[in-house]
Amino acid sequence: MKEICSSSSSSGSSSSKSVWIVHGVVAAAAVGVAISAYAYRGGLFRKFRSRVVGIIPARYASSRFQGKPLVSILGKPMIQRTWERARLAITLDHIVVATDDEKIAECCRGFGADVVMTSESCRNGTERCNEALQKLEKKYDVVVNIQGDEPLIEPEIIDGIVKALQTAPDAVFSTAVTSLKHEDAFDPNRVKCVVDNRGYAIYFSRGLIPYNKSGKVNSQFPYLLHLGIQAYDSKFLKIYPELAPTPLQLEEDLEQLKVLENGYKMKVIKVDHEAHGVDTPEDVEKMETLMRERNLS
Ligand SMILES: *[C@@H]1O[C@H](CO)[C@@H](O)[C@H](O)[C@H]1NC(C)=O
Ligand SMILES: *[C@@H]1O[C@H](CO)[C@@H](O)[C@H](O)[C@H]1NC(C)=O
Repeated sequence: MKEICSSSSSSGSSSSKSVWIVHGVVAAAAVGVAISAYAYRGGLFRKFRSRVVGIIPARYASSRFQGKPLVSILGKPMIQRTWERARLAITLDHIVVATDDEKIAECCRGFGADVVMTSESCRNGTERCNEALQKLEKKYDVVVNIQGDEPLIEPEIIDGIVKALQTAPDAVFSTAVTSLKHEDAFDPNRVKCVVDNRGYAIYFSRGLIPYNKSGKVNSQFPYLLHLGIQAYDSKFLKIYPELAPTPLQLEEDLEQLKVLENGYKMKVIKVDHEAHGVDTPEDVEKMETLMRERNLS
């Protein structure tokens, strides 16, 4: 797999006219984002859980895919793509990459990201987010854990889970689901979720839930697929990694069950999104094909 890191990977010269048009659109979009960000943060009252940081945990060593954050996706490192998408979210006051790896850190500083170095002993992304949070100078009320391997993550999803936590004081955790494709119904790597009628999570499973009495997929039922992104109340994040593993968590190998088994509330938002995570080197090519098809670059 090709690893890259160049902050100067802009691709050649297109006609100057089209460059102008693109810049115009980008400028207009930037003004729009700035105004809505201002409107969102402004106002006379400070919102509940108003200070929000997005953390992108990234480690170099991975059993399945060594150096994954730096893999080139159509000429840009994957982590840069994720970071660029996250920057479009209007609810984040700050975005940092949390890594234990100098090479990743250097690459990220190169394209302009803030980096927090975390120890190699972090056993998962949540621990890394927690350590990074403690090392940040400013205080934050909400932490969004943005997986570095979803380079097409939509900023609206980030904003959605942040707002979900801000409007549900009884929840300490928020996350997103989308429609499950029926062909994925029995794929244990696709995690399913069921929610109550106020949008709080009831359960997550690698098995199909709910399970139709017939034993078959019910083509009428709107099954939900869990997306990896999650946000936490920062006080909860401090204790989350320390909570002892729970029986359902261990049985399903799903971290988030620990939250529910301990009686905490989790708010779930439903979004329209196709998940395109990059888990293996083979996924890189699929991702590039998809981006070319959709004219994303
Ligand atoms: C199961 O799925 C079928 C459609 O496949 C649906 O008609 C039925 O209501 C569902 N529930 C039960 C209990 O059968
Ligand atoms: C992360 O790893 C630690 C140590 O294995 C574990 O206790 C914890 O449950 C894991 N997950 C989270 C979300 O903290």
